Amino acid sequence: MHIHAPFELVLFGGLGDLSLRKLMPALYMLHYDNRLPQGKIYAVTRQSPEPDAFRKQIESSLKSHVAAPYLELSKLDAFLDSVHCLTLNVNDDDGYDHLPGILSQEDINRVYYMSTGSNLYMPVCRGLQKAGLIKSNSKIVLEKPIGYDLKSAQEINDTVAEFFSESQIYRIDHYLGKETVQNLMVLRFANSLFESQWNQHYIDHIQITISESLGVEKRAEFYEHVGAMRDMFQNHLLQLLCITAMEPPAKLEPDAVRDEKVKVLKSLKPIVDRMINDNVVRGQYDSGVADGHPVPRYRDEPGVHEKSNTETFVAAKVEIDNWRWAGVPFYLRTGKRLADRMCEIVVQFKELPHSIFPLQHKNTMANKLIFRLQPDDGVRLMLCEKRVGPGMSVRPMNLSLNPSNHKQARVPEAYERLLFDVLSGNATLFLRDDELVEAWRWVDPILKYWEEIDQRPEPYTSGSWGPAAATLLLARDGRLWDENS
Ligand code: BG6
Repeated sequence: MHIHAPFELVLFGGLGDLSLRKLMPALYMLHYDNRLPQGKIYAVTRQSPEPDAFRKQIESSLKSHVAAPYLELSKLDAFLDSVHCLTLNVNDDDGYDHLPGILSQEDINRVYYMSTGSNLYMPVCRGLQKAGLIKSNSKIVLEKPIGYDLKSAQEINDTVAEFFSESQIYRIDHYLGKETVQNLMVLRFANSLFESQWNQHYIDHIQITISESLGVEKRAEFYEHVGAMRDMFQNHLLQLLCITAMEPPAKLEPDAVRDEKVKVLKSLKPIVDRMINDNVVRGQYDSGVADGHPVPRYRDEPGVHEKSNTETFVAAKVEIDNWRWAGVPFYLRTGKRLADRMCEIVVQFKELPHSIFPLQHKNTMANKLIFRLQPDDGVRLMLCEKRVGPGMSVRPMNLSLNPSNHKQARVPEAYERLLFDVLSGNATLFLRDDELVEAWRWVDPILKYWEEIDQRPEPYTSGSWGPAAATLLLARDGRLWDENS
């Protein structure tokens, strides 16, 4: 795959947090690796900054978010030369009239990246169309969360579909761009060893954790209306679940992969009414300690309502009603201000029916495959081995499937991969309209129920692993969260 040159990337929310922290650094790294052909990047801003101040702002974000060895002066200068400021009041229909004089008139490879709230999709699409700027080679990228619930997500799909065909729409979930997620697909679908075990006959249960040690930071205004279910669960966690549980696609092509993911989402056992309290836990962080410093409770964070019922933690026991997974629980959890920042998919295999080794107790430390997405990435197989010496004592051993000496290449950031994929027209790792709708369909009853009961989520101490009810969710089934391996 390569990027069709020349390209134009128009970043709405161009000086926003995501753009400065993730998108610009990712674009710079593509440029650094010589993967970005000739093209222009436009950062859309409401007010026009001084040209020098604009350049300095992009430069300083690169200096803060790109590792020092990659900050070469000549590369940096060439990249900054390709970044331009585009001043536009996106809500003013006539404001778009001057864009054809700036952007190319040709039907070139042009990407509109919506790093904004979904309330701006309609005015932006309308303005671009009025200015004749949506052509057959144009694409649009939509950032999550797309919508607030099932209804609004369907409305957004319908709105954007008035202006762009489905093949031009890229719904991004940056977790799908993480290196280990692609490695998970390769390990599953390129090795008969794993694929033959990947079902209810051999797997006891699967855990997926995305934990963060950070709190709400400066995003209270956004987060208060969203919470962990909409911010992380509905998208990132369910996407990881889909990749882990899907059937092998017939080809590594966008629709083949997305068909299989949709089937998983449609097979999720609905959690409704009374089942919600038994199967879903929500929490809100209390004061405590993070990275060795005392931190306030969520309700005392700047911008948070003192009686806020927004959840900062969600854990759920999810079941998939199909032949492969019947009877295999998937335990999913995510939260802010937890003990550690990490993301892991833990596949726990079933115990043997009978052990011939007297000292092999129920060994939950072994018999599992761990996909670690962050902070470091890699795959480990936990097996049992004989303890050296007399007797037949058995102990767990950790087999790294990617020893450090094999990992010489730089691991690209998720946004690098995904931006490259958009620019080169590969939608395999992006969500299709029906996928988005099915994910919302599953979480919708849970969100509605929480809204109705209007209660404070269970508090948990900052720096812990979440509320006690999350531990009980597994303990009830005789299991433990994997926190120490
Ligand atoms: C974003 C969420 O999608 O993912 C944030 O909006 C969260 O709340 C972030 O902090 C986590 O991403 P990563 O890649 O740092 O794990």
